[in-house]
Amino acid sequence: MLDLRQPWSIGPVEIPTRLVLAPMAGVSVQAFRRQGRRFGAGLVCSEMVSCAGIEHRNERTLGYLRVAADEHPLAIQLFGSEPGSMAEAARMVEAAGADLVDLNFGCPVRKVTKTGAGATLLDDPDHAARIVSAIAAAVDIPVSVKLRRGLRNGSRDCLVVGPRLVEAGAASLTLHPRSAQQMYTGTADHALTAELVSLVDVPVVASGDIVSRAKAQAVLATTGAAAVMVGRAAQGNPWVLEEIVDGAGREPSREEIVAELVLFVRETVRELGERRASGFLKKFYGWYLGRGRFPRPFKQELVQLEALDEVEQRLFAAAPGAAEVLRGLEAELPDAEDDVVLDLPISIYGGG
Ligand SMILES: Cc1cc2nc3c(=O)[nH]c(=O)nc-3n(C[C@H](O)[C@H](O)[C@H](O)COP(=O)(O)O)c2cc1C
Repeated sequence: MLDLRQPWSIGPVEIPTRLVLAPMAGVSVQAFRRQGRRFGAGLVCSEMVSCAGIEHRNERTLGYLRVAADEHPLAIQLFGSEPGSMAEAARMVEAAGADLVDLNFGCPVRKVTKTGAGATLLDDPDHAARIVSAIAAAVDIPVSVKLRRGLRNGSRDCLVVGPRLVEAGAASLTLHPRSAQQMYTGTADHALTAELVSLVDVPVVASGDIVSRAKAQAVLATTGAAAVMVGRAAQGNPWVLEEIVDGAGREPSREEIVAELVLFVRETVRELGERRASGFLKKFYGWYLGRGRFPRPFKQELVQLEALDEVEQRLFAAAPGAAEVLRGLEAELPDAEDDVVLDLPISIYGGG
């Protein structure tokens, strides 16, 4: 059995456990990342942030650069295709207080790939390497890159691109060994992860289908990866992180589930504002309350509600002891006023 509580590092950044919480667009808000850290993730990552959005000082994009005191170590992930503007965005990521800048060379979504970003870069190792060296030269924090296996099914392009990126200055690689064409179908082929590990002398993180401690142990043992990354399995289920890291597999009580969900709602409102949070949170109700934990109509009921204080009331009515559990959780968190550090030069807001 490998000890997932054994620290490791990416460059000078020490990471306390072998579990990394995956970047997920529309999911990896601050509440998700902080919760991930509490439940045993050693490293958390923002969702992909658009370099073009940063360049144009888009207010919503800049909001993704908010770093809380209790999420370190944290990677902020960028996507883009132009080395100069990506280097500029990476400087902002560093100024925002991130410990690592992560580059998305794996996103299969057309909106991203048609701009030459995401998985498209797997088809152009020279350009991908130019991006990494421009960024590595621009910042002092380590640069990591997240890849898929290639664009098309059966592709092994990651084995060509990966070592090039390390030569260009990448301090770590994460591989999700599905092709972009596969999206999320089929299975992640971690035999490829093992090959990549043998080709590079930087830590490799294995992403894809890590859903249990047994799977995490098997992938670490057979690939030589430094850590595993967990994505979908942690949606509405932070307890799986605890299980993977410590082997402390247990089904949470209804009170714990409701307390975690209400905390998540409150933190997300603080980050996104009530109006945006209300729509954003709907998918989380099913994730938290599903898995046979609460009757299905209950989730439907919550999804219909617009006002989040009503959502809270219904949740507490379904598990009255949750209020006490929540008070305990909130008491342990750093003060909400202190923990959001937006340490950015004022000029990034377009001056003024
Ligand atoms: C909803 C969703 C959004 C995602 N967004 C991102 C993203 O912004 N950046 C990224 O590198 N990967 C993204 N991914 C891929 C995950 O990080 C991960 O590599 C993939 O889901 C496989 O891991 P899993 O089987 O543990 O979910 C996303 C995945 C999902 C399901």
